[in-house]
Amino acid sequence: MKDILGKQIKKDFPIFKNNPDLIFLDSAASTQKPQVVIDAIKDCYEKYYANVHRGLYQLSAKSSEAYEGVRDKVVKFINASSISEIIFTKNTTESINLVAYAWGRQNIDKGDEIILTAMEHHANIVPWQQLAKEKSAVLKFIPVDKDYRLGISELSKLLTKKTKLVAVTHMSNVLGTINPVKDIINKAKSFNKDIKVIVDGAQSVPHFAVDVQDLNADFFAFSSHKMAGPGGVGVLYAKQELLEKMPPFLTGGDMITEVTLKQATWNELPYKFEAGTPAIAEVIGLGAAIDYLYKVGLDKVFQHEEELTKIALKKVSAIPGVEIFGPKQVKDRGGAVAFTVKDVHPHDVASILDNQGVAVRAGNHCTQPLHDKFGIQSTVRASFYLYNQPEDIDALVKGINKVKEVFK
Ligand code: ALA
Repeated sequence: MKDILGKQIKKDFPIFKNNPDLIFLDSAASTQKPQVVIDAIKDCYEKYYANVHRGLYQLSAKSSEAYEGVRDKVVKFINASSISEIIFTKNTTESINLVAYAWGRQNIDKGDEIILTAMEHHANIVPWQQLAKEKSAVLKFIPVDKDYRLGISELSKLLTKKTKLVAVTHMSNVLGTINPVKDIINKAKSFNKDIKVIVDGAQSVPHFAVDVQDLNADFFAFSSHKMAGPGGVGVLYAKQELLEKMPPFLTGGDMITEVTLKQATWNELPYKFEAGTPAIAEVIGLGAAIDYLYKVGLDKVFQHEEELTKIALKKVSAIPGVEIFGPKQVKDRGGAVAFTVKDVHPHDVASILDNQGVAVRAGNHCTQPLHDKFGIQSTVRASFYLYNQPEDIDALVKGINKVKEVFK
């Protein structure tokens, strides 16, 4: 393997020092955190923590400045056009729900159509199902082809004058497929410029550079905890003109300008969409994660994971009885490798791997409809991040061989 990010990088992550035998292959679920992120959170609590936007005292001014500084970093990180377009939420799921409630309830009516894909995470299916039920709207799905890619040509057949929204994942958390989101958006908007597109970027933003303006996405959601940052923080990017017209999602403190006993008026963007005390230290931790990813270089992160994926596809698929669910080539593919071992339940595979120190996820990975399509209930999934090394894949392969031995 080309040595893009050497073993040294593991030293940035204390979890590996404290668990020297750990082979962590579940970063698509949540990533480990580097010391700099842990320190940034600790620093905030130890040196300058106070509530934001409220206090007239210096400590609050300092924490507000640090918190808002992260919004500036996010603007640059995904190339939004202003801080008004960056909303801090709890996670990707909440970001998508915000759009489904605030934009969806205002813009989707009876008979309107929402196009999803067959490889969406539950977070990008269930909010639309609920909306469709409430409004008697129609859901349609772009199918997944035999190469585990979206049948993009099908999109043209699904678009009609009733289409209001397309919701698509940037990268499948199971198949690893990276979808041609820019083409999808282009196609939808060429058909009808008023169609809106929401992109679930939970599995893309951590692994490669994303430019929301270049994509021309209307809404783009991602989570801090999948990109070396802390849990409890997500981001919703949305075009300012859309946010301006949308009503608030959650209401309460900080999102208002004036409240009387009868009514309230809304704060300016982005605060209109941030009700209550936010996850202050965690947002600051996300800022440290962004700095860390810049320092390592997202291009290098992607190339490193591409190398690992190449090795994994080759070595894992060479094991007799193992079937991989996902593209067999690394082109337009990220580091999530789902597989089954013939005649062994995925939970047993994961548990035997765990006994050997290899942490993988088994289940439907919040994509039950996708698994239904394959006619299976679950898969095992190994997923990589910048700290993984080729030896981790060797351990996975050894572990799978052990599984086969146990179930011989
Ligand atoms: N969405 C996360 C995963 O894919 C939880 O595992």
